Amino acid sequence: VLAWLKGMRDDQPAWFDESNGTWSLFRYNDIVRALRDTDTFCSDPSRSLPPEVAENAEGSMVSIDPPRHGRLRGLVSHVFTPRLVEQLAPRIEGIVDGLLDRALADRSGRFDLVGDLAYELPVIVIGELLGLPASDRDFLVRCADEFYAVEHDDPFNGEYMESMQSTLDELNEYMLDHAQLRRREPADDLMTALALAEIEGERLSDREIRNFAVLLLTAGHITTTALLGNTVLSLGENPDVMTAWRAGTVDPAPVIEEVLRHRSPFTEVYRFTTTDVEIGDAVIPADQLVRVWLVSGNRDERQFADPGEFRLGRTTGRHLGFGMGIHYCLGAGLARVETTAALRVLARRTREITPVLDELKFYDAPGIFCLRSLPVTFHR
Ligand code: HEM
Repeated sequence: VLAWLKGMRDDQPAWFDESNGTWSLFRYNDIVRALRDTDTFCSDPSRSLPPEVAENAEGSMVSIDPPRHGRLRGLVSHVFTPRLVEQLAPRIEGIVDGLLDRALADRSGRFDLVGDLAYELPVIVIGELLGLPASDRDFLVRCADEFYAVEHDDPFNGEYMESMQSTLDELNEYMLDHAQLRRREPADDLMTALALAEIEGERLSDREIRNFAVLLLTAGHITTTALLGNTVLSLGENPDVMTAWRAGTVDPAPVIEEVLRHRSPFTEVYRFTTTDVEIGDAVIPADQLVRVWLVSGNRDERQFADPGEFRLGRTTGRHLGFGMGIHYCLGAGLARVETTAALRVLARRTREITPVLDELKFYDAPGIFCLRSLPVTFHR
């Protein structure tokens, strides 16, 4: 895929895919423009997608345009604050400790960094944050795998859409029940805070709370799994960085930022043109679906020198791993805190972890760049 993206950046930076009727953008500057110019590139799918598909996104922040987007994001940010996220760090380290107790008990000296740690951690964190019962965890844990388990390379593949829809229906129903429960019986959790949040007399409807809770899980689970898995993989491929991290001479932060660029967990986002728009030699007509390839922008040699190299402390421009503009990832802080906590505990609990690089398994679905299995050997 990376070689294909490079070819497209060079030869067809705005490309119409006849097989599914979508446009694609590949260059860093074009992507920045699409993410910033929300009048021309909107996020509301109801313009261009069939109603049964667009309906899923209704009322979900990521699919709403200004001015409604700003109001909704303001309300949610009011309770999902950086301070709340920072305060979670010790608890998150506790969760990592618990998961590692099991993984490191393995007498063969191996565990699956994704299956045993990175896949479950974000669900436990989001579940606790929302105040969902631990007994429902198995259901929440399996949702992401169901979203991405169908192997294919077309996001509009019928089988994929069907399997995704049935999982989404289940998840929607589950979260709606919970939102209604918390309205009746408030507790000390994010779901209750969302139910009570009020700005200028406006409150979130049950459906909006449901959509936000579902968005937390769908946007915050597999992406964080990917970030942690991709980080440990990058450490394995870059022994100097691994050694510096072990010695404490390199912080996790710059490592994580370079992983977000070099191995972007979230590979593409979608926009819909509101009017004809010129990109290079091409004109994208109005009402078209545009695939905005973050992963390609992050590898654009026009923006990043030697983009294929994993290099700490790059200074030539921001990566697009969390997007850009008004829809910039609301969970970026949480994803960073979770990944940092996991790295900190891994450093404390092991003397050595070594990814088994010839046994990697990746999800084979569009949209994510995520390991499904990352075996590591370890010494305690
Ligand atoms: C939006 C990536 C983790 C919640 C986004 C967007 C990207 C992204 C690229 C922009 C979407 C767009 O422009 O259409 C990631 C990555 C993550 C991650 C790579 C992990 C490494 C999380 C977490 C949460 C979260 C942990 C919450 C628990 C959201 C929400 C939005 C969003 C609510 C929508 C914001 C808006 O529309 O204003 N994320 N995300 N994400 N993300 Fe994340």
